[in-house]
Amino acid sequence: MSEGVTPVRYAIVGLGSRADMYVDALATRFPANARLVALCDTNETRMGVHNRRLVEQHGLAALPTYAPADFTEMLSRERVDAVMICTTDSAHDDYLVATVEAGLRAVTEKPMTTDVEKARRILEAQQRTGGRIEVTFNYRYNPVHQRVRELLAEKVIGDVGSVHFEWLLDVQHGADYFRRWHRNRENSGGLLVHKSSHHFDLVNWWLGDAPDSVVGLGNLFFYGAEGGARTGYAKDYARAAGSQAAATDPFALDMAASPRLTELYLDAEHEDGYHRDRNVFAGDIDIEDDMSVLARYRGGASLTYQLTAYAPYEGYRVSFNGTKGRLELDVLENDYARSPLEHGSRMGATPGSVEEVVPTRTAITLRPLFQPAEVLLDEPMRPGHGGGDDLMLDALFGPPAADPLGLRADHVAGARALAIGLAATKSFGTGGLVRIADLLPI
Ligand SMILES: NC(=O)c1ccc[n+]([C@@H]2O[C@H](COP(=O)([O-])OP(=O)(O)OC[C@H]3O[C@@H](n4cnc5c(N)ncnc54)[C@H](O)[C@@H]3O)[C@@H](O)[C@H]2O)c1
Repeated sequence: MSEGVTPVRYAIVGLGSRADMYVDALATRFPANARLVALCDTNETRMGVHNRRLVEQHGLAALPTYAPADFTEMLSRERVDAVMICTTDSAHDDYLVATVEAGLRAVTEKPMTTDVEKARRILEAQQRTGGRIEVTFNYRYNPVHQRVRELLAEKVIGDVGSVHFEWLLDVQHGADYFRRWHRNRENSGGLLVHKSSHHFDLVNWWLGDAPDSVVGLGNLFFYGAEGGARTGYAKDYARAAGSQAAATDPFALDMAASPRLTELYLDAEHEDGYHRDRNVFAGDIDIEDDMSVLARYRGGASLTYQLTAYAPYEGYRVSFNGTKGRLELDVLENDYARSPLEHGSRMGATPGSVEEVVPTRTAITLRPLFQPAEVLLDEPMRPGHGGGDDLMLDALFGPPAADPLGLRADHVAGARALAIGLAATKSFGTGGLVRIADLLPI
């Protein structure tokens, strides 16, 4: 008689675009270990889209759907073992707390949450229940980022004194954060929380250290009403759908051109008024698009970090200065952002448009003291966040495996990744240095 493993029963809460990856993985890749059993969202239409995919693409039965008010009932009725949280960032805390209070495993998309109060609430609930919380930092799993971690641990550059990190979001991807819910701090915490928590987590993990104190400068420079008026890019419309003015705006998103965006968002608007195609030069945007951060780590290393959300191309550069030399990571995710007016939008691809092969590059260079530089790696970037997504799914849903590099991130890593962005945002207002210990008990 074969000894079968009982599959872990998962519910997904938050069935937007990110949930696709988890629905597909749970539907197809881990039949012996993991099973998707229920969906929960504020929007019934979006849950219907995912159910249709389960039936039509995967040949599976549609799953029961639940409204947020019935979340706890769902956990017991569907005998859920673990919850995958993919809602808007500001709702993560409610589901994390409810899940650990029910004694179940909680897995959340990054960022763990959006402000200090919610982060404290999660940490308190975890401590009170002893519950298991995991944060899906897929960037850690990118093999190139793993290589950097190994090289630093092998001390190829000795002890690290400082890290210099620049991340560029182009005017396609970067603009997308200003079209939808991310543009308001109450939903996303701002880009230093929503986006940079990935980057700060990488630095924390690469260095094997925790941040101590932070100072930051932030500016809404390019997007928003003032930026649009100053640069002349602003066009007069509230949202792109149905607007003549938007038809000539390279910053507009044409959802109707994409069957996927149409079914997931346009056709679901009547339920909750979620407009995913708003004008990026509107007056209600209250997050920054240009941010500089200085941080000191407990071990003594310093970090200088810059996030720009209106760049001509997408990519990032990280340099580590050490006692035995310097290590550089250089990643080009595209050569330049294509205008949707000429090329069809990358976010909402025009039907029938030929996908261009966009040049990408990932390079690691070691520059030892008194020796010539050595290129350790130089290759195109792999798809799926550099190949990180698939490896993370294996770790989350596959059979238990060793984790020598500490890829799996818990609530402490989630809080430390948040802490720099939260502290820097506080510093935007005061101009002063913020101690992490004064914000969060980590
Ligand atoms: N790690 C990555 O690379 C990556 C990439 C994209 C998104 N994300 C994260 O995934 C999450 C979802 O992002 P997305 O792009 O899919 O957003 P989305 O707007 O497409 O989807 C969010 C979903 O949450 C639902 N929702 C909102 N409030 C809710 C509530 N209170 N209860 C239940 N459902 C609620 C919405 O109806 C929507 O279906 C975010 O936390 C985001 O930061 C991570």
